[in-house]
Amino acid sequence: MKKIVILISGRGSNMQAVVEACVNQKWPAQIAAVISNKTDASGLEYAVSKGIQTAVVVSKEFSQREAFDAALQQKIDEFSPDIIVLAGFMRILTPAFVNHYAGRMLNIHPSLLPSFVGLATHRQALDAGVKLHGATVHFVTAELDHGPIVAQTAVPVHNDDTENSLAQRVLEQEHIIYPRAVRQFVEGKISIVGNIVKIND
Ligand code: GRF
Repeated sequence: MKKIVILISGRGSNMQAVVEACVNQKWPAQIAAVISNKTDASGLEYAVSKGIQTAVVVSKEFSQREAFDAALQQKIDEFSPDIIVLAGFMRILTPAFVNHYAGRMLNIHPSLLPSFVGLATHRQALDAGVKLHGATVHFVTAELDHGPIVAQTAVPVHNDDTENSLAQRVLEQEHIIYPRAVRQFVEGKISIVGNIVKIND
């Protein structure tokens, strides 16, 4: 059984999608823990309700990014994870932390990378006038929202879209591609060659 640790900062709908798929599709994996950097992350309640171990490492109690990442790493490694799944984990990560989990940490970003890195991606897409927007699952590297791409999904942008309506359309697709990518990882179907991800499905 592969061990999955999921990191969240908020509502955790992507975490929930991964948990449900893991259980319902009987992956060769278990959710070892859900860890948040905020005590009030509402996703923690869902994890507890499913009997999943939870932990909180409060980021605002640390003045140095390196110190927080070191504490978080220590907590994560207590669960000996094979894969770290960032699911709405709203932190910029230090290179030391990222390198420690090289090749085994995934993120989902709500844009078609390499377009629209950072925050407010739906606003960025509307302002740019793109006709297609979407989401990307990628391995995490030291450069923010870069790293080898595992999966992408595109949605149309409508004339009357707001940030909220666009975010909702993208999120529905996130809940499809993220569990699929994590499953491919735990089933050993993903390899990284240079900056390119190969999937043997
Ligand atoms: C998602 O849109 C994800 O792509 C982004 O932050 C949002 C988190 O939503 N990184 P949730 O906490 O998974 O519901």
